[in-house]
Amino acid sequence: MTNFSLNLKSKEQIYNIYIDDFSLDGFKSKLLEEIKCKKVLAVISEKVNKLYGDRIFPLNEKIVYKYILPDGEKHKNFKNYQKILNFALKNGFTRKDCILAIGGGVVGDLAGFVAATYMRGIDLIQVPTTLLACVDSSVGGKTAIDTDFGKNLVGAFYQPKSVIIDVNFLRTLDDKQFKTGLGEVVKYAFIEKSCGCVEYENLINYLHENFEKIMQRDIKVLKRVVEICVALKISVVEKDEKETDLRRVLNFGHTLGHAIEKFTKYKKYTHGEAIVQGMIFAFELAHKLGMIDVNYKFAAMDLISKFEFRPVKMPKMKKLVELMKMDKKATVDEIFFVLPKDYGQVQICSFTPQELL
Ligand code: GLY
Repeated sequence: MTNFSLNLKSKEQIYNIYIDDFSLDGFKSKLLEEIKCKKVLAVISEKVNKLYGDRIFPLNEKIVYKYILPDGEKHKNFKNYQKILNFALKNGFTRKDCILAIGGGVVGDLAGFVAATYMRGIDLIQVPTTLLACVDSSVGGKTAIDTDFGKNLVGAFYQPKSVIIDVNFLRTLDDKQFKTGLGEVVKYAFIEKSCGCVEYENLINYLHENFEKIMQRDIKVLKRVVEICVALKISVVEKDEKETDLRRVLNFGHTLGHAIEKFTKYKKYTHGEAIVQGMIFAFELAHKLGMIDVNYKFAAMDLISKFEFRPVKMPKMKKLVELMKMDKKATVDEIFFVLPKDYGQVQICSFTPQELL
């Protein structure tokens, strides 16, 4: 088992992130080891509950209240946030109890936001079951719900007590879910050197060399991929928890990606597909601005095309710029882009809407 710790020095807060291809007993005993309270609110994805609920629960002597959340981004909303809060209140949960989030990014973000706000904060354990949640959303403490005005516009930075990643969950992910997670994995390859890790893997090469095994869901290789991405994310979050500076590198491909998702009402493309298009755009733009040479641009396009992400039909730039102006990171007259500057390295650049047009 790989055991990383995320150390937020500013808050004197440390938590563990366990990554393994656990045996069933091993997974359950790790879970029980991490749950320090008697009473647990398990927010679990409907699909995960169907596939694994009987194997995970009951949790020995723990008193578990299960809240089953239907799958899909549309459920990460205020209504479900309120429903879970009411469920916890009705069942007498106190600040000494805890919340267990078992599922993908929707479950993790929503249950995390409940945990952040329920009685001003209740312990949270993240158990991500999708590739995207393993490599990104379960680590680093971003919690949120979506609103009519956009994704993740209401939320809190709230770190979990621990994250337990069992890569075996990835075996039963549908292809669409798996691919969207791969979009985030490819992102890490392009930002690797900017994450400030002392050692790095050369994820671009690793993904090329292990492409077939990744697509066959070879568990050892997937575990390694998750480990590399999580190590990079930890390195970034430890240095900039609240995204004042360095953490913005994690948004490579996201400024445009979020605008595409919003333009198509989160229905047409997956998050992974949208951010891959955002990365392609970033490479084009950086090349046009003379920030990268053509070799790097082609190498990047080569890696992206290998994974055969579904191509995105680019909406009109004027519309996208309007949407990008609403990005959480944008100011009145600046839109921020993370652009590549060298192999595995990126830099934050700002443009006025006019410049982009
Ligand atoms: N998903 C980007 C971040 O955690 O900052």
